[in-house]
Amino acid sequence: MTRKIVVLNPKGGSGKTTLATNLAAHYASSGFSTTLVDHDSQASSTRWLRKRATHLPAINGIAAFEKNARVTRSFLMRLPPGTTRVVVDTSAAIAAQDMPELVRDADAILVPVLPSDIDIHAASRCIADLLLVAKVKRREQRIGVVANRTRRNTLALQTLLRFLGTLDIPVVATLRDSAHYLRTSEQGLGLHEMKAYLVREDLATWQPLLAWLEGRFAEGAGLPAASLEAAG
Ligand SMILES: Nc1ncnc2c1ncn2[C@@H]1O[C@H](COP(=O)(O)OP(=O)(O)O)[C@@H](O)[C@H]1O
Ligand SMILES: [Mg+2]
Repeated sequence: MTRKIVVLNPKGGSGKTTLATNLAAHYASSGFSTTLVDHDSQASSTRWLRKRATHLPAINGIAAFEKNARVTRSFLMRLPPGTTRVVVDTSAAIAAQDMPELVRDADAILVPVLPSDIDIHAASRCIADLLLVAKVKRREQRIGVVANRTRRNTLALQTLLRFLGTLDIPVVATLRDSAHYLRTSEQGLGLHEMKAYLVREDLATWQPLLAWLEGRFAEGAGLPAASLEAAG
């Protein structure tokens, strides 16, 4: 069964590409047939994939931002048969009216947020758009926030967590500010593909996120509201 994760937040630099590439690498190296869809014309995910060594577990890439006259969008978006994980990286340029189509069949929607005032404001706007424009129902519990680049015990982190608590949207992971992300991304790798003893502390911060995603996949999110109601 194909499971789809969309990483989204119109704020540049919040960690969308970092989340998307690390998730794709994690699923590929766990044996899933994985596709990474890049909706951003800055093509960061696509470049990461090009750097990835050929001996590593393969990830199929779709550069969804390419507008080639000979190749229709639907062709670009066609997934290889047997695809089990799709991770979608999106652009900072995404408008609220593009959101419904992007997230319609997503099992999970991840919103990375940095602990700063500007980013907290942008994230609340993004979540409001997801709820009101894209009509994602809270009870579907498809949206998860990832607090990113956090430093322990800072005021900014506490403000971020307090704000997220008021939204009734779960914080599914708190990732540290860590040099390992840049180092791995430069090599087309994911954190989970590094020697565990080198990245142990950061790997631990991914466990709640991966567990939450498994829960989403198991529950069969994205069902029409009617069947969710029928199931109680
Ligand atoms: N947790 C983190 N710790 C340290 N650096 C990070 C972290 N998350 C992202 N970065 C760095 O921040 C920059 C922006 O992240 P990126 O994932 O490209 O954001 P976006 O795709 O939302 O624009 C990149 O250089 C990335 O390596
Ligand atoms: Mg990006």
